[in-house]
Amino acid sequence: MQDIISDINEYCQNHSTIFDPVLLDIERATFLRTLAPRMLSGQLQGSLLTMISKIKQPKNILEIGTFTGYSAICLAHGLDPKGTLITIECDAENALIASEFISLSGFADSIHLMVGDAKSIIPKLDIIFDLVFIDADKEAYSQYFDLVIDKCSSGALILADNVLWSGKILDEKKDKKTSLIDEFNKKIHHDTRVENVILPVRDGINVIRKI
Ligand SMILES: C[S@@+](CC[C@H](N)C(=O)[O-])C[C@H]1O[C@@H](n2cnc3c(N)ncnc32)[C@H](O)[C@@H]1O
Repeated sequence: MQDIISDINEYCQNHSTIFDPVLLDIERATFLRTLAPRMLSGQLQGSLLTMISKIKQPKNILEIGTFTGYSAICLAHGLDPKGTLITIECDAENALIASEFISLSGFADSIHLMVGDAKSIIPKLDIIFDLVFIDADKEAYSQYFDLVIDKCSSGALILADNVLWSGKILDEKKDKKTSLIDEFNKKIHHDTRVENVILPVRDGINVIRKI
């Protein structure tokens, strides 16, 4: 079964648009220069992020968890020409790599990288967002949702990554992190301010739309 899933993923990846050649350079640098390259969104999910962003054409995007800048650049492809993408990263070394690639990407003027803890930065942002990508510490997803929901326009999309947590979400006895992700998915499902669909792409993306 696992073989079929990875073959299907490979087929989908090989038959999907690569929107930006700089993404291949970021992927290479991430494998060479970081300890956890698997955190990167990767080609298939990256193309999905670009497609969603191009359909939505957001004026303002917020990303929580920049890592090496891959998903920020994917999302920036759909940004309104006068729009802004704020991306937050707490690790200075990751932020340095991200800033190198953001300058090479053609989105240097529209992507603003903020270095620090997203939990203290988000409350200070006086901006309404049309698209939010939550992809930092999994234990805090619920808190991130609470921090951003009132800063989102009606119809805004909030995308939360890794909500299937390598399939551990189905374990009967869940570890602490998995339980918190499960609680987040259940909270979203019952929140009447939003509607949602979980896509089983890569590690699971919860696509949440503010009503
Ligand atoms: C899964 S990676 C992000 C991957 C990236 N979005 C991509 O698709 O290429 C998560 C990142 O969030 C950062 N992070 C973790 N906790 C954070 C926090 N409280 N505030 C800001 N960044 C955080 C980590 O340092 C890491 O670089």
